[in-house]
Amino acid sequence: MYFRITYLFFVLCACLMTSCDSTPKAPETKTEQLADSTYDDHSYSNLKEIRTSHLDLDLEVNFSNKTIYGVAHHTIINKGSDTAIFDIKGLLIQKITIGKGKNERETDFVIGNMDKDSILGQPLLVTVKPKTTQINIYYQTTTDSDALDWLDPALTSSKKHPFLYTQGQAILTRTWIPIQDSPSNRITYSAKIKVPKELMAVMSAKNSKRKNDSGTYYFKMEKAIPSYLIALAVGDLKYHAFSSKTGVYCEPQLMSSCKYEFEDLPKMMNAAEKLYGNYQWGQYDLLVLPYSFPFGGMENPRLTFVNPTVLAGDRSLVSVIAHELAHSWSGNLVTNRTWNDFWLNEGFTVYFEERIMEKLYGKEIADILALVEFHELQDELKRIKNSEHPEDSRLFLDLENRDPDAGMTDIAYVKGAFFLKTLEQKVGRKNLDIFLKNYFHKFAFQTINTSIFSEYLNENLLSKTKIDFDSKEWIYKEGIPENCVHLKSSRLDKMVQLAERVNNGEKALAPKITFKTIRRKGRKKRKMIVTKIERKDHIVQEWQTFIRALSPTIGKETMREIDNRLNFAKCGNAEIMTEWYVLGIRNNYKQIRPQITAFISKVGRRKYLIPIYEALCETPENKKWAKELFAKISLNYHAVSRNTISDLLNEK
Ligand code: BES
Ligand code: ZN
Repeated sequence: MYFRITYLFFVLCACLMTSCDSTPKAPETKTEQLADSTYDDHSYSNLKEIRTSHLDLDLEVNFSNKTIYGVAHHTIINKGSDTAIFDIKGLLIQKITIGKGKNERETDFVIGNMDKDSILGQPLLVTVKPKTTQINIYYQTTTDSDALDWLDPALTSSKKHPFLYTQGQAILTRTWIPIQDSPSNRITYSAKIKVPKELMAVMSAKNSKRKNDSGTYYFKMEKAIPSYLIALAVGDLKYHAFSSKTGVYCEPQLMSSCKYEFEDLPKMMNAAEKLYGNYQWGQYDLLVLPYSFPFGGMENPRLTFVNPTVLAGDRSLVSVIAHELAHSWSGNLVTNRTWNDFWLNEGFTVYFEERIMEKLYGKEIADILALVEFHELQDELKRIKNSEHPEDSRLFLDLENRDPDAGMTDIAYVKGAFFLKTLEQKVGRKNLDIFLKNYFHKFAFQTINTSIFSEYLNENLLSKTKIDFDSKEWIYKEGIPENCVHLKSSRLDKMVQLAERVNNGEKALAPKITFKTIRRKGRKKRKMIVTKIERKDHIVQEWQTFIRALSPTIGKETMREIDNRLNFAKCGNAEIMTEWYVLGIRNNYKQIRPQITAFISKVGRRKYLIPIYEALCETPENKKWAKELFAKISLNYHAVSRNTISDLLNEK
């Protein structure tokens, strides 16, 4: 399938191939690989010999044929190799030259085969000279460029203009830029992007704050970043500043919601800086994308990409923003060297996110957030234990020959965060905070792996405080160690109790009528008081806990009654709606099918789609319905979600 035209083209190019025998041998054993700071299971690039230090993009975004055309100019550091290897997937390479300006000369290149499972894409081998400092790759994207989501106007808020955005993490940057696509290499970049005049382009770089008349935008990212953080979006955008260094870009229709929802952004920034040191990227803006965006947020430097479902109308989902902001330290400043070290990005970020939430909204809220995640982690652990890869419950992963997406589980996020919470309990918050601040400072703008962290931890925290803490057990063993901190929340316990009463057939949600004696004008009077539970009485995580504790056999009648009282199905909060739809599917409550259809036709965030489609797959009838619906709406999703859901529906 994949090869089509590109393959023929590449076979022709192969005839021009020069020998690449000099390509040095990759490290073979796991120990050799770990010792090599450039080794990455998920990239073909030969970073040890030759690597990009700066990338300059000159691109044109063509919405009429949904293609990006242009040149990627790589400034390289060559340690004497005659071949530079890049990663590509779903790209058409037109020609490659070396040198600049007058000295630009065409050079030979060859494109290797796609890997067996089409995970990595293809290696692009370019012939260079020992003194070559620039490689220019002329290329265009194709319909197989999975990073790109081209949206027709109907899928945007304005319904008037098309939209394009990219998603690079984990290994999709190679589908829109020919690049050495490994997080172990950091590069600076600049770009000239030409877009239709009525649209504006923004990147994970220095951005202009308003649209210009020429349709050409220039960008610079002067701090070295890993390739997965290069990002572009093009649409009808407006900007609003919250402070001198924070703001939001969005389609004009979403602006008033954004202004309200993200008002605490400067406070979050203050809290984060107080915790772990100054923000290193200058500006911090949000970009609210169309609903198809497959994640809640993506920490593209200077410009976090956000799913519009975060605009819940009551600031109840802003922990996503705290999370992406935290990545400006954990992930963007100190970066996982390979996708096996993903927990260094996400575990630290979840811990940091919850510290920001605690500063802004208090410990009770932060604990509730962590506790809900801890419960989710228990389910994830069960799933992993019974899967083909029970070893995936280790923090340090082995994702060789697998899609790095497989490591995107609650292990990295929640076990990672609980590792730090447990450490905090052992060494004390003050000691841990000093340690973390120093850690971000020491490894700023570097990439590190799990063993470097482990060593740093031993030297700078554990041996100093003489604390007996088995970090190895947490990092290299399956499951959750016994010493893991225990959190409790009476507010969540109460929601479980409420759900249990419903499960037992009690009318627990019915209004309660009580009488109170009051005195009016010296006379005693009985006053009737009606108390009923309303949705606004509890926060999202409480309702989530309530719905999760409801039984899949409460039946349609009870579902209807709850829905009449609390209106979960149409409440506008995607977290609650997802839980409610899953429960509805399990209770065969077909009445909410129209709402489910509307939701999954519009929202492409994978975290919501997976549980809904999984629940639908539990009965043959629902699965058939889901497959038919997916066939109609799958183009509304970004390839990341589309591929996941397609795999899920096509499992035996
Ligand atoms: N960097 C991740 C998203 C990601 C991870 C994309 C791996 C591709 C591969 C982002 O920071 C993230 O974790 N998003 C979460 C937010 C949540 C934990 C608050 C999401 O989208 O659910
Ligand atoms: Zn994250």
